Amino acid sequence: MFAKKYVSELVEKFSSPLYVYSEMILRESCQKIKQLCPLKNFQVHYAVKANSNIALLKIIRSEGLQAEVISIPELKLAQMAGWKKEEILFSGNNITEEDLNWLVQNQFFICLDSLCQLETYFALGGDNACIRINPLKGEGHHERVITAGKVKFGIDLPQVAAAFELATQKKKKITGINAHIGSLFLESSPFQKAVELLLQIAERYPSVEYIDFGGGFGIAYKESEEDFSISNYAKKFTAILTEWLTKTKREVSFGIQPGRYIVAHAGCCLAKVNSIKNNQGINFLGTDLGFNFLLRPEFYGAYHKIIHCSNNSKKTKKFTITGNICESGDILGKDRNLPQNIKIGDILAILDTGAYGFSMASNYNSMLRPAEVLIDLKGEAKLIRKRESLSDLTENQIF
Ligand code: LLP
Repeated sequence: MFAKKYVSELVEKFSSPLYVYSEMILRESCQKIKQLCPLKNFQVHYAVKANSNIALLKIIRSEGLQAEVISIPELKLAQMAGWKKEEILFSGNNITEEDLNWLVQNQFFICLDSLCQLETYFALGGDNACIRINPLKGEGHHERVITAGKVKFGIDLPQVAAAFELATQKKKKITGINAHIGSLFLESSPFQKAVELLLQIAERYPSVEYIDFGGGFGIAYKESEEDFSISNYAKKFTAILTEWLTKTKREVSFGIQPGRYIVAHAGCCLAKVNSIKNNQGINFLGTDLGFNFLLRPEFYGAYHKIIHCSNNSKKTKKFTITGNICESGDILGKDRNLPQNIKIGDILAILDTGAYGFSMASNYNSMLRPAEVLIDLKGEAKLIRKRESLSDLTENQIF
């Protein structure tokens, strides 16, 4: 991502821990994902939840992607990045009536997640709805991120007909259907099944003008893995959509909602080694990057490559890398080979943390969330979020 020796300069200038992003990698992944389908009525909505830093959103927007948001604040961030109303898809779940009302009044396109929310949406005056369908079979890197089947998401398949009947009864329309099977698949087959299902449903209902297949396109976190291959799947995907359009003679637009695929590789986290010790035969490397700032390893048991940036010694030994939070689960990686002579003050880079890294960070243990830096196309490091200060912690407290 950048030269190892450059890393200490970054930490000196912007402090540690630090989230660092590469504009070049971010633009490359935006361009890659668009190659999934060359049809002009195919739209990529970036799932803002993966990383909502406005500087990054602006880059993603400039690459021609639109936005998928889950909350009104997320929607506002998307607007601050420049996306127009018609370029934003709101696909929240369990939305408050107040928010639904605001969305209806402001004429946003909303993807509704249950029959009762659809009913409320119609009652509030909404006309054209999109519904999220639960395709019964999901996929993901962890059960927490599988979003189809026996989970809270979507309208159950047997109830889809009722949703369309409700719309007819209320003299409204369901113009969009969506499914999101879950987060991170590396093979196309689970996604393909959802594509086929949505196309079958759309065939039955002529009011459908938009079909959104969701996100979940995986990236390689481990050395042994490969990113979901957009180029391998593109031909098949495009052929299915084209055949369907020819067969049905319908004018329908298609969309996807990738988050991770766009931003994960573009980001890394820098952490400083503060302590080295051996407890019960385990070599612990204690850093300043706790699970409050990078939750994925602790929450999902997720693997991120960890590299040492300060020396190139070939002699390695196994270390368990931890953060500075007061819980034993605060582990970034177990049994990782790192230089034997690693020392206090050395810097580690935790790779592929651009997605669901900062966006899942918290102030647990009252720690101040780190700064974010963008390496722009000229190779210059630009601060895109300041490190928090004590006043950010106290601002809303009344004492
Ligand atoms: N659309 C909807 C409705 C979603 O809920 C999500 C992700 C996406 C699109 C984008 O999915 P992606 O392409 O990024 O897989 N925190 C977890 C991932 C949670 C994903 C939540 N929803 C992680 O760190 O792995």
